[in-house]
Parts: sequence; structure tokens; C-alpha cells
Amino acid sequence: MCGIIGYTGPRACKGLILDGLERLEYRGYDSAGIVLLEDGALVRDRTVGKVADLRRLVGDNGSPATLGMGHTRWATHGGVFDRNAHPFLSNDGRIAVLMNGIVENYVDLRAEVVAGGHTLSSDTDTEALVHLLADAYEGDLVEAVRKVYPRLDGHFAFLALARDEPDRIVAARLAWPPLVVGKGDGEMYIASFLPAFLEQTRQVQHVEEGEIVDLRPDGARFWPIAGGPARERAVEEADATIEVAEKGGYETFMLKEIHEQPRAIADTIGERYRDGELHLDGIGLSDAELAEIDRVLIVGCGTALHAGLVGRYLIEEWAGVATEADVASEWRYRKAVFDPRTLVLAISQSGETADTLAAVQLARERGARVVAITNVMGSAVTRVADGVLYTRAGLEISVGSSKCFTAQIALMTLFALRLAQLRWRLEPARIAEIGRELERLPELVQRLLDDAAMHAKVEQLAREFSTHRFFLFLGRHIGLPICQEGALKLKELSYIPTDAYAAGEMKHGPIALLTDETPVVAVATDSHVYEKIVSNLQEVKARGAAVIAVVTEGNTNIHEHAQHVIEVPRTLPELEPILAVIPLQLLAYHIARELGLDIDKPRNLAKTVTVE
Ligand code: F6R
Repeated sequence: MCGIIGYTGPRACKGLILDGLERLEYRGYDSAGIVLLEDGALVRDRTVGKVADLRRLVGDNGSPATLGMGHTRWATHGGVFDRNAHPFLSNDGRIAVLMNGIVENYVDLRAEVVAGGHTLSSDTDTEALVHLLADAYEGDLVEAVRKVYPRLDGHFAFLALARDEPDRIVAARLAWPPLVVGKGDGEMYIASFLPAFLEQTRQVQHVEEGEIVDLRPDGARFWPIAGGPARERAVEEADATIEVAEKGGYETFMLKEIHEQPRAIADTIGERYRDGELHLDGIGLSDAELAEIDRVLIVGCGTALHAGLVGRYLIEEWAGVATEADVASEWRYRKAVFDPRTLVLAISQSGETADTLAAVQLARERGARVVAITNVMGSAVTRVADGVLYTRAGLEISVGSSKCFTAQIALMTLFALRLAQLRWRLEPARIAEIGRELERLPELVQRLLDDAAMHAKVEQLAREFSTHRFFLFLGRHIGLPICQEGALKLKELSYIPTDAYAAGEMKHGPIALLTDETPVVAVATDSHVYEKIVSNLQEVKARGAAVIAVVTEGNTNIHEHAQHVIEVPRTLPELEPILAVIPLQLLAYHIARELGLDIDKPRNLAKTVTVE
């Protein structure tokens, strides 16, 4: 979950590395560091804090260095202290290393390097690696990495420099932490994620799992760690542009991404629904195999799981297939029951989440078919699943997910419809009706986002409630995962404790939390459970708590039950969640804004969670 970038070429690279780190910062932002080869010495600077703090520390001194690398950290091994920030230097100053990921056998390796006479100055796993490399180094960094790599267990991507090889970066990757190479004009980049160098070059080469990469200014060579000749690697033109990594006039990435939802949904549906026909290319199962599925297990984490929970209702309701959705980190330790007709759907925006990947691997080992839903081309989950359905939301930078959530739901909707169609569970006319509404969705989302009254209402609520100490979210049926998502968004952006409950379950415990100081946010859009949720709101009102209700437009009766009402456009009840979540995203956003918090980079979080 850390961000890493390296450069070798003819240009002074300090600024390039710092700019790249800024674009990677969403991956982790506890501390940041840089190492540059200056006048024959590896000069390292690092600090607790954000890349802006590192920039202040290293200043604008116009370093002549043309070889260097940088790191932005999300702490795993060792607290957030300067001494644990990357890069690490060997005691003799000849080797520098930085890493994204984890070396699991670090305790033994640390003991070994101490026994070998090295002094450790940090609490990290990475520091052991730099000393092992220093011991193995005999003038050729690739050879040193080759010797040390097999000794490391875990999952990681690391970059290494040697003081005496002034134009070379050597990188290695084990398991899922990603690495991508950028090929410029007589210069090379390597980073955890493309936007780090997208402003400089769009020519990319992907690093495979289990490879060592040798970068010099004129190109990269890719070696399998197991030995054998260097591998050819095509240079591809990245289809992303730098604009996707810019805020485009919005004050934050989060706000930009909330406003990108109409496009994200439209592109995700795209050509997949045409005139009553559904095309889920890439799914990896034939129509006959899909029709045979009699059980679906959905796994994911956080927001991705919430999208899966929405999908559960749709699959059961439309396709009549028994469906379960569970947290990947729990599911993988359950003795889940499979048979060959079970399909596992793994949802992960990044495609890198360690728990989701582990669940997928386990499911495959036990013989289940796995379809991944992800937003990142070629990400780790795409390599381990039988098939892949991409959300086409574009790069999501803000740590709090928004557009990927609604795109995931749009994709789950298509999947549920396709299953229903193949199993003859819905009449063609009904499929066509849902399809038409799906096609209208981007327009409805746009209408909601253009609704000045909705924005004014949400901003007013944010002012009124930002100092409240707890929020309860209540929903029923498909509105429940939307409440769970609204509650997650609010707690992660504003640090205000929240809980999300099935409204009918409230009286079995959480009702004890209600006072006239407890705002209750309810999703009460039109559906077969609308009357039920209204009864629950009566119970809330009787305890003096203020109700903020998200309802379908034209609902005049809700004002009797809720002090604050936000309307969303009318569509089919099954599709309404995509609309209902938008005011909840904005409510979380504006409360965090009222509180003066860093919305794109909330405390302690990271965009990609590559540790268990
Ligand atoms: C919350 C959020 C997280 C992610 C979760 C899974 O806003 O973004 O809860 O949804 O960490 O990440 P992915 O989807 O990349 O597997």
C-alpha cells in the first residue's frame, strides 16, 4: 500500500520523483522519503508526514542527481517515525532500498543481519533487505538481488540502487504488489502505479509477478527470478491521460469523482446492454455454464462489499440464485461450502486488496469458478480469476471510493440480469424495461448532481450536524447496503462514529443510542418495504432524534416522519440505490469539509490495502 517511484536518465530527477510521489500519495501518506545519487554518494531524506513535508525538507536546491527513487508510506512494520520511513541505506552507504509490501520472515532476517554485524536503525522488515543486499553485492546489483530474493517470503515490490552503478535501478516483484515501467526518450521510470510518471511518458511495460527488472536509461530488461533468459516485454501505449490524475477544477479528487459518476455508470454499462441483449464479454464462463450456476458467493472489502450486498438482492430477486456476500477477510477463514455450480464474484476496485485476493485463491484451490469485478486493467485479481468484468469508472484517486461504488452496482445489475435471462427467470419484456431504466441511469444521476436545491440542502445539513458525535443510518432491503456505505463514508471522511442497521433490527439494541442529539439518516426510497421503514422512523421520532430521509421525488407524506428530506429522481426500486447513495456521499463530504479535514486522504487509510 505504499507508493514507490524510481528514475534513471539524463535529467535532474529530484522534481520528477517528488511530483510522482504526490500522484502516488493516495496509496499511503504516513511518511515520505527520497534517495538521490549526488556526487557519487547516495543522499537520503525522509520524514513523517506527507509529500509536501518532504518537499519542504529537501527544498528546491536544484540537485543535479539523475538517478533516484522515492517512497510514500503506509505503516505496517514499525510505527510512524522518521526512522521507519523509506528509503533505507546499508551501513556502508553503498546500497539503497525501498519497498511496497511485506517481508513475512523479517524477524529471522533482522536477527541474521544483526548477527552478521549490521546495525539496525528502524523497526521495519525492509531494513533487513538492504543489509542482505549489501552482503550479497559484488559489483552487480542484479546478481545481488538474484541471490537475496529467494530468501524473502511475503508479497512485495522493491527498488534498489547501488552507489557504484550510477545509472541503474533494479526492481523485483513477488505476488501482487504492482510495478509498471515507463519508457521515455533515453530515460526510464518505474512505479507502483502509472499516474506517477504519466505526465512524462505513456509508453509502459508491465512487470510480472516473480520478476527482476533491470533499468538503465536506454531500456528495461525483465528476468524471471527462477532463472532463464531475459523475457521480451511489449511496450504498450497507456490509454489514460494525465487529466485523470488531476482535480480538473474541483477542490478535491473526491468531489471530482462524485461528479464523474454519470460517466462512470454510462461507460460501465456501455455496449454491454443493447436492445434487450446483454453482453458480458470476459466473464470466462460459457452461457451454458452460467445458466448452471446455482449459488453465488460474493466477496470484497469495505465499499466493494457494499456493492456486492446490493448485488445479492438483485441476483436473488431476478435470477432466483441463492447468494451470499461476505467480508473477504472473514470468508477466507470460514469453511465455506462449494460445489462445481458455485460461482464466486470477487469485487475490488484496485484489484490488489490482499484479503480479496487470498479469498479468490482459496476459492480457486477448492474448485470454484471465480469472476473478478475490478476497475484496474491487469491488476492482480485479473490474473487469478477465471474471468474479469471491468468497471469503467476511470482512475479513482480519492481514498474514499465513490464512482467505483456506483459503477460496481451498475455491473452487478447487468450480471444479475444476464443470469436471470439465461435461467429464464424474467420475461423479455421485463428485461427490456430494466434495460431501458439502466440506460437512463447516467442521465438521472446527472440530474441529481445538477440539482442545486439538493446540494444546498446537504450543505445546510452538514453545517447543522457536523458537531454531532454519532450518526445512526437505517435502511431496509436494498437500501440497507446503501446505508452501510453512507455510514462508512461518513466515518472514514469525518471520523465521526456511525453505525448502519437494518431498520427492523433497531429496536433490538441500537434504539438505546437514540437521544435528541442523534441524527438518524434513513434511506426510504419507494419500494415494497417503504411502509415498514416509515414505521421504524416513527419509533425514532418518538425518541426525539432528528431524521434525515433520502426519498424518491414527489414523496409528500415523508415530511410527517422526517425533519429533513432529500429527494432523488424516480427509477425502478431496484435501481434507486445508485441514486440514493449520492446525497450520502455528499453529506459525508461536506461534514468532513466543515470539520476542515483532508478529504482525499483520511487519517490512517490507504487506497489500496495490500496487507491482510
Ligand atoms: C472506502 C473504501 C474501502 C475500499 C476497500 C476495498 O471508501 O474505498 O473500503 O472499498 O478497501 O478496496 P478495493 O475495492 O480496492 O478492494
